[in-house]
Amino acid sequence: MPDYRTVAVAAAQQAGKIIADACGADFVVDYKQGALTNMVTEVDRRSEKAIVEIVLAAFPDHQILAEEGSEGPNQQSPYRWIVDPLDGTTNFTHGFPAFCVSIGLEMERRIILGVVYDPLRRELFEAEVGKGAYLNGQRIHVSQVSSLNKALLVTGFAYDRESRQRNLEYFSRFVLASQGLRRTGSAALDLAYVAAGRVDGFWELMLAPWDVAAGSLLVTEAGGRVSDFMGDTFSLQGTETLASNGLLHQAMIEVLAGH
Ligand code: IPD
Ligand code: CA
Ligand code: CA
Repeated sequence: MPDYRTVAVAAAQQAGKIIADACGADFVVDYKQGALTNMVTEVDRRSEKAIVEIVLAAFPDHQILAEEGSEGPNQQSPYRWIVDPLDGTTNFTHGFPAFCVSIGLEMERRIILGVVYDPLRRELFEAEVGKGAYLNGQRIHVSQVSSLNKALLVTGFAYDRESRQRNLEYFSRFVLASQGLRRTGSAALDLAYVAAGRVDGFWELMLAPWDVAAGSLLVTEAGGRVSDFMGDTFSLQGTETLASNGLLHQAMIEVLAGH
């Protein structure tokens, strides 16, 4: 079997180097669809170009779904690489040190590999389906926290106003129910942190496939659970992501439902 993992790790590390080298330097910023909150920088594009070149050099007939628009030559391939070249762009543009590269690989619509790389901390989170999740080569597991009032949770706010407004309601419920609540600005890192047991649960609305492809596999391979807000099957195309250590899942579903 081809070594997808080696290629994904090489691509994530090369992209991470581009991002780390650019951090603090001057770069061009554009605004997507004229929205002042949704930025893209030349660093996002350079990172994506590097990843796509490395992936297609190894697997020229694979599909690509990447945030900044890259596609593979073969849209029929059962293999699809799902790429966020820089997750946490708002943080990056401000020099706030929480961003990463996220690369997932799907085979016949099932995620089989996920890599999330934080280039500043040099933390490489990776998982292959059925083989567990790892941080810099060490096996990681979700936490054992079983009550919300002892849980550290994390969320994020989507770019559209309506979802932000809706999430404020969830935010206020969880801030009262939990021990602590964070908003890092990188959904892929949030999921990697659930996998590593650094936070106990995460929820967010309106994430894109590239935000969650790698991170959702990290969570399940680390022993956690990922679903929609009702506890039903998680979908990359869905609008709700709820990830937890599993023990807190039902309690989080109830808070989201307003019980
Ligand atoms: C964003 C980050 C953020 C989340 C947003 C995402 P980007 O991705 O993951 O944490 O709240 O919903 O769009 O734009 O920085 O790649
Ligand atoms: Ca993203
Ligand atoms: Ca991005």
